[in-house]
Amino acid sequence: MLALSTSFVSIMVFVYVSAAQSVAPIYGQCGGLTWNGPTTCAVGSTCVKENDYFSNCFPLSTAYTPANAAAQAAGKLYFGSATDASEFTSSDYYYSYYLKQLGQLTPENSMNWNATEPEQGVFTFAGGDAVVGYAQSNSQLVRGYNCVWYNQLPNWLANGVFTVAELTEIVQTHCGTLVGHYEGQVQVVSDLFVHSWDVINEPFNDDGTWRSDVFYNTLGTSFVSIALEAASAADPNAKLYINDYNIEFAGPKATAMMELIQTLKASGVPIHGVGLQCHFVLGQVPDDLQTIMEQFVALGVEVAITELDIRMTLPATNELLIQQKADYQSVISACNAVPDCVGVTVWDYTDKYSWIPSAFPGQGEACPWDSSYVQKPAYDGIIAGFQS
Ligand code: G3I
Repeated sequence: MLALSTSFVSIMVFVYVSAAQSVAPIYGQCGGLTWNGPTTCAVGSTCVKENDYFSNCFPLSTAYTPANAAAQAAGKLYFGSATDASEFTSSDYYYSYYLKQLGQLTPENSMNWNATEPEQGVFTFAGGDAVVGYAQSNSQLVRGYNCVWYNQLPNWLANGVFTVAELTEIVQTHCGTLVGHYEGQVQVVSDLFVHSWDVINEPFNDDGTWRSDVFYNTLGTSFVSIALEAASAADPNAKLYINDYNIEFAGPKATAMMELIQTLKASGVPIHGVGLQCHFVLGQVPDDLQTIMEQFVALGVEVAITELDIRMTLPATNELLIQQKADYQSVISACNAVPDCVGVTVWDYTDKYSWIPSAFPGQGEACPWDSSYVQKPAYDGIIAGFQS
């Protein structure tokens, strides 16, 4: 029995070593006259001959322009990423090394209602403060995120029963306190104080009807103006946004958002921007993304790409990564063609912390840097998009 187990282990080790040797890692050797190691390169790289004795695996990505510099050269305010303190304070030196080079940060979860007001009237800002402090020490913009969203609500709120007056005050207190806490702390761009808040996140269903949650069910559509007014009073200089997904193409949800913006504008409610999340699927970037952004801008608001990622069915191949490059380039080019598209945020810059694999099993590789911080062809697509 012992002998059987030992030989089984030996076979497994042999198989493992053979498999490991069959593919050279990125930057590893993949050829040469005396080379008898692997000649196939890891996905994301290709074998390039240096001389007769040495070939190695170079990343497919060859762009060196910093993405934020490319965005600013194109007249945008920033190229940034979602993040949270657990990521940049980890022992992973490289995460922070690359994060610092971006121009803008969005706190991925740490300013959500369950994190900032877990008990009614008890505010905790530690996670958000960490992101804002990190951004300030690296001269980065922050997009505040978010005041009112159906998700990540504390139980006292999600399962509470309130009168109109009670919930109105709850929304006013939350938005006013949250936005007020960061008022004036954030961001100098060319002597102009600029920062934005996603005051309302994901108010609509995909068919354009209002999402059923404690806010809509209690206050009707008025929760939107209540939140926006409170945010504006707390920080009159902030750009106030409504943010959603599946509004990046013509359809009932985009129409509903446009009608909401028109109504708010006509009523004098402070609204300055629409965030298009842009969680896309490989090969399915909407053709009318630029047109849709222009239609929002025509209503008198700016737009931003707020949560960009482009997922694929795994495993990735070089062909899929090249398609992803084209897709990223399409998105960035669309923003580039619209002067009032002010910036682009990716929903984490690295696959290491992407939300995709846990939400869509079998899919991933959605970000422009892989999980080892190697730039993907998508990165070159981003740079090309800003230079288009
Ligand atoms: O904080 C708890 C922690 O205490 C607990 O131990 C752990 C166990 O699962 O869960 C932690 O909460 C998680 C939270 O992220 C913070 O890490 C939730 O389970 C998890 O579901 C949550 O996922 C977030 C998701 O929104 C749902 O809220 C993702 O990180 C975040 O990237 C994702 O982002 C959303 C945007 O806010 C809105 N647009 C779509 C986008 C993608 O879904």
